[in-house]
Amino acid sequence: MTASAQRALTLEGAEAPHAAEQAELHPQKQHAHVRFINLGKVYEGPQGPVPALQGIDLDIQRGEVFGIIGRSGAGKSSLIRTINRLEKPSNGRVLIDQVDIGDFNEDTLVALRRRIGMIFQHFNLMSAKTVWQNVELPLKVAGVPKAQRQRKVAELLALVGLEGKHKAYPAQLSGGQKQRVGIARALVHDPAILLCDEATSALDPETTQSIL
Ligand SMILES: Nc1ncnc2c1ncn2[C@@H]1O[C@H](COP(=O)(O)OP(=O)(O)OP(=O)(O)O)[C@@H](O)[C@H]1O
Ligand SMILES: [Mg+2]
Repeated sequence: MTASAQRALTLEGAEAPHAAEQAELHPQKQHAHVRFINLGKVYEGPQGPVPALQGIDLDIQRGEVFGIIGRSGAGKSSLIRTINRLEKPSNGRVLIDQVDIGDFNEDTLVALRRRIGMIFQHFNLMSAKTVWQNVELPLKVAGVPKAQRQRKVAELLALVGLEGKHKAYPAQLSGGQKQRVGIARALVHDPAILLCDEATSALDPETTQSIL
């Protein structure tokens, strides 16, 4: 797909593009600047190479809310996933605060991913863990002490309006509630970048507004 850089990026084949959404994120947070340089991604599919992204040149400013629009299969998830290196570009570069993340090793990638929250299109919740445990997990992995974890999880579940559901398992939640668990989990490390892969599609406008 070929890209044109505007305030929202429209990947080729998109239906009527909407006006770009722009707003300031939470002001106390330390934002990062993201730059794509001639980014390309080709997957190896069973029937040969699948070109997903081509020649993306794009600058996303600190604090900017940037939307990517495109029809199914246009490459939106692929593009987003290069920002935390869940996807490695086939060519081109991704710079975060002027640093090329292409050279990062395992340790620097872990550090990078703690600065980047991601809300997945398909939730990616752990089915055997409760809502509380799902949100707490990244803090546990990072070695955050229990008292601090409890404060943070309670605060985030309140933010997304799920205080009453902390003992529920993902299978007992609606789609929008699962998405809100994913949002709370993505925010545990006060990320400098929040990646949302259709994160608010199952949410009502009020919840979307309060989270952004
Ligand atoms: N792991 C993979 N292996 C092979 N091809 C892939 C892989 N992941 C994605 N693709 C292909 O790359 C293209 C872009 O996929 P991507 O998931 O980025 O699209 P999308 O814009 O997020 O679509 P949707 O709106 O449906 O989520 C598609 O043609 C898809 O089939
Ligand atoms: Mg997608």
